[in-house]
Amino acid sequence: MNKDKKVLYSGMQATGNLTLGNYLGALKNWLTLGDEFDCFYMIADLHSLTVRQNPAEFRKRARQLFMIYIAAGLDPEKNCIYFQHMVPQHAELAWMLNCFTYMGELNRMTQFKDKSQKHADNINAGLFTYPVLMASDILLFQSDLVPVGIDQKQHLEITRDIAERVNSIYGDVFTVPEGYYPKVGAKIMSLQDPTKKMSKSDENVNASIYLMDDADTVVRKLKRAVTDSEGVIAYRPEQPGVNNLIDIYSACTGKTPEEALKDFEGQGYGQLKTGVAEAVNSILVPLQTRVKELEQDKTYIDSIIKNNAEKAQYYANKTVRKLQKKVGLIEMPR
Ligand code: TRP
Repeated sequence: MNKDKKVLYSGMQATGNLTLGNYLGALKNWLTLGDEFDCFYMIADLHSLTVRQNPAEFRKRARQLFMIYIAAGLDPEKNCIYFQHMVPQHAELAWMLNCFTYMGELNRMTQFKDKSQKHADNINAGLFTYPVLMASDILLFQSDLVPVGIDQKQHLEITRDIAERVNSIYGDVFTVPEGYYPKVGAKIMSLQDPTKKMSKSDENVNASIYLMDDADTVVRKLKRAVTDSEGVIAYRPEQPGVNNLIDIYSACTGKTPEEALKDFEGQGYGQLKTGVAEAVNSILVPLQTRVKELEQDKTYIDSIIKNNAEKAQYYANKTVRKLQKKVGLIEMPR
């Protein structure tokens, strides 16, 4: 990290299966960012502990997410893809930043309120201080840009507030990050309710296409996709279901919606759905093949897990040391 380039930082939880929406809306667009930015993609496994996980499944999912990133084309030499818990500085900084965060601020977080309702039997302190850990993730790397969805905007705001608070007391400690909203990136909607975003946490499995769905499942889910009774393939907001299918097709084939409409001229919804399924499978089948290949190559995967964690530790340590010094903690003799 030479700071010639801006630092772009993103985190993702490994809970739930990644969907086609995650791929077309985010992952795919990250592939080209490496030229412009120093990119960090962190698997937020410590955040996931705020909700009880099945250990075996959690382990499997986290490793699979790592391989999906690489299979999708993120070069692990150019992009620092790593697991949060392997970089202990996250927890170290989070403790210090807890002491610069007010209860009142955390009480206002809408995600905390939502999650406390959803997990009323397990409102743990981690759930409450979740945003502080997230602030630590971002600030550890002196990140300039953070691509976030609308649901994480409030967490980015509190990150900026904490950074500015610390900076105002101790001088220049942290880079104050900005949200990054890329121009490109398709917004893929639920197949069952096209007014809602496709989500990996949707309870209805037919609402989302998962990246690991096999070809037949993709065909079946698209066949069941909600459309309308217009019976005309058009690209307009009044037909959100059909609109979404066209968007999926366009994103998978690289065609414009107008070109997509041409491909389906004079056809019915059945043919549209078959065409979309083919386009989706032309993306997912090679991706899955690559994931399977990587699964076989444990030595290679392990070596990049280790190298990237060490790389992240190196940068993270600098920031932790910087703040420790500023607040007056004695340096450990070498
Ligand atoms: N909280 C984010 C989510 O659930 C994940 C996350 C953790 C994150 N740390 C981050 C996102 C840092 C961006 C930057 O989506």
